[in-house]
Amino acid sequence: MLSRDQIKTLYDHVGARQDRGARYEDPAVAQLIRHADFEHASAVFEFGCGTGRLAAALLGQHLPQYASYYGVDLSTTMVHLASAKIAPWCDRAVVSQTGGVLQLPARDGSIDRFVSAYVLDLLSTEDIEALLAETRRVLRPDGKLCLASLTYGQTLPTRLVSWGWSQIYACNPARLGGCRPIILRDFLHDGWVLQHAEVIAAVGMSSEVVVAVPRT
Ligand SMILES: C[S@@+](CC[C@H](N)C(=O)[O-])C[C@H]1O[C@@H](n2cnc3c(N)ncnc32)[C@H](O)[C@@H]1O
Repeated sequence: MLSRDQIKTLYDHVGARQDRGARYEDPAVAQLIRHADFEHASAVFEFGCGTGRLAAALLGQHLPQYASYYGVDLSTTMVHLASAKIAPWCDRAVVSQTGGVLQLPARDGSIDRFVSAYVLDLLSTEDIEALLAETRRVLRPDGKLCLASLTYGQTLPTRLVSWGWSQIYACNPARLGGCRPIILRDFLHDGWVLQHAEVIAAVGMSSEVVVAVPRT
């Protein structure tokens, strides 16, 4: 597992090349968008916004014109890239850099979509649990948790890819962007009601997509 300092250094270096992962991320992110009802969102928070690709897609194609977007990232380079990408919507979209803390800069119950794509798979189990607890704090009761992450394959070829990935990760996590397969649903047994969950494979890589609402 990479430390926050190592993650920051890595993604400062990766920069725009992060979007090369689009080949395996896009089908899962498309499903996330399809099931998260962004058309009726008014306040979106993205954790680990990367280059701002998802932010630009949401602001340009899916969110209502009144909806606000707030993204955070640990990497200075990513925050610069994302800020440039969301500039056309600067009246309602902002990105800021954090030290990687899991306390979200948002008031209780002020968000109706919490989005994070390919970030929880970098975090420790404890950090994922702490982040989800924070997410419950900032989400409105009818808000949605919208996640995509690397996960384990479900067919023989994709299971082999996951196995190979886990082997490389064990020796050199930075080589794989610090990401390892996880099962998001395992973190959502308490306090959440699943609205949508699926595993999607693209280019041999498997991703889990989850949309959930807080259990009341
Ligand atoms: C694999 S990239 C994914 C970026 C983007 N979400 C995407 O789907 O293309 C992981 C991103 O999460 C950011 N990140 C990792 N840990 C973080 C933390 N604790 N707080 C904020 N951002 C974090 C990294 O800097 C990086 O930009």
